[in-house]
Amino acid sequence: MAQAKKLYIRTYGCQMNVYDSERMAEAMGSAGYTQAATPEEADMILLNTCHIREKAAEKVYSELGRFKPLKEANPDLKIGVAGCVAQAEGEEIMRRQPLVDMVVGPQSYHRLPQMEARARQGGKALDTDFPEDDKFDTLRTRPKAKRGPTAFLTVQEGCDKFCAFCVVPYTRGAEVSRPAPRVLEEARDLVERGVREITLLGQNVNAYHGAGPDGADWSLARLIWALNDIDGLERIRFTTSHPNDMTDDLIAAHGTCDKLMPYLHLPVQSGSDRILKRMNRKHTAESYLRLIERIRAARPDILLSGDFIVGFPEETEADFQATLDLIEEVNYGYAFSFKYSTRPGTPAAERAQLDEDVKSDRLQRLQALLTRQQRAAQDAMVGRQVKVLFEKPGREPGQMVGKSDYLHAVHVADTGIAAGQIAPVEILESGPNSLAGRLSGG
Ligand code: SAH
Ligand code: SF4
Ligand code: F3S
Repeated sequence: MAQAKKLYIRTYGCQMNVYDSERMAEAMGSAGYTQAATPEEADMILLNTCHIREKAAEKVYSELGRFKPLKEANPDLKIGVAGCVAQAEGEEIMRRQPLVDMVVGPQSYHRLPQMEARARQGGKALDTDFPEDDKFDTLRTRPKAKRGPTAFLTVQEGCDKFCAFCVVPYTRGAEVSRPAPRVLEEARDLVERGVREITLLGQNVNAYHGAGPDGADWSLARLIWALNDIDGLERIRFTTSHPNDMTDDLIAAHGTCDKLMPYLHLPVQSGSDRILKRMNRKHTAESYLRLIERIRAARPDILLSGDFIVGFPEETEADFQATLDLIEEVNYGYAFSFKYSTRPGTPAAERAQLDEDVKSDRLQRLQALLTRQQRAAQDAMVGRQVKVLFEKPGREPGQMVGKSDYLHAVHVADTGIAAGQIAPVEILESGPNSLAGRLSGG
């Protein structure tokens, strides 16, 4: 019998890429591939890439360069680039790095097995189409392997918002929602395979408007309520949301839907209306703050997280101060912050840029504040009882790690805990990046 070929996938970027990598591994699984733990033992290497900032995109080329000796030692090794760099740069990738055999965009990866076959015949394969056939449909027939307790599920993809800094509308295309019955079918399948927590994914997930079984569009809230009825599914999360798509039914669900977790990632990017306008964000600092008030009224203990960009073109010290003020007012439990990075083809890339030193200084000050808030939110958990979904063994023997409802990592030293179990934990300690506690009575 021929030995199974091995596929090594490295994933960069957002959670949707993690989901896509799983789908690509499944697609190649039906073409006879099993997963390799290292690039050295692989017959095919796939980099699933991110184009969001310059550093993320450049990493791909340095990584590809490192595969050169492997390709020299094994001419049968096939190397592919998938994801958002593949979509943005296409053929250019093969020109810059001739060892690449396949380039596949995020909307055409269901065609990967055919592309691999073409590459095996000595050709190069490029597919960055936005095809009519639905990749999710092609990927429905897949192996029913057992899964860990948490999973991502893409429900919406692409974006029509065109923030002036962002490549996503170009790399992921126009906003598309998957039909609700398909999402529910995939969710039930995940639960049968051991999943207890599902994070719904979309570049603009709260703009979800997939067709319901009756043909009428469902909102994200309606979809969440339907998921709430699935036995065995215990937790629902969603990411990433745009402030302008936080509808009343979705805000209300945070107060009333018992499986919807009290954590919301709601990027604001800047606290200055002048900059928000130049970013084409279509909301103001004030409208964002009022929105946060309404969300907190629905779910007072919700943990909020956000994304911030510093050093956007024309950002003054006063604009930056407005961002710090907004952060003070919101009080985030978690945050991601970035220096503005010019992206070719986006409107803001054409504008005069700020000095790198100014950007670095602002990022440092912003992160100092955010880290303080994050730490305070974590420390406030000490003495409280939280529910934890345990996922895997921790670093120390006998220890299990999981996530609280608020998405804090929690360690418990207890050999009686199994992965997939949800248990009440009394929090005893707050460390730099995680909490520690002990099982409590209930
Ligand atoms: N769909 C998500 C964002 C995806 S990108 C949303 O709408 O919020 C994740 C984050 O990367 C963004 O929220 C933004 O903070 C950051 N980002 C995007 N483009 C960037 C750029 N050109 N430079 C720096 N950060 C950027
Ligand atoms: Fe990018 Fe998000 Fe803006 Fe869409 S809403 S353009 S994904 S930052
Ligand atoms: Fe990166 Fe593409 Fe996600 S650019 S953040 S991998 S949508």
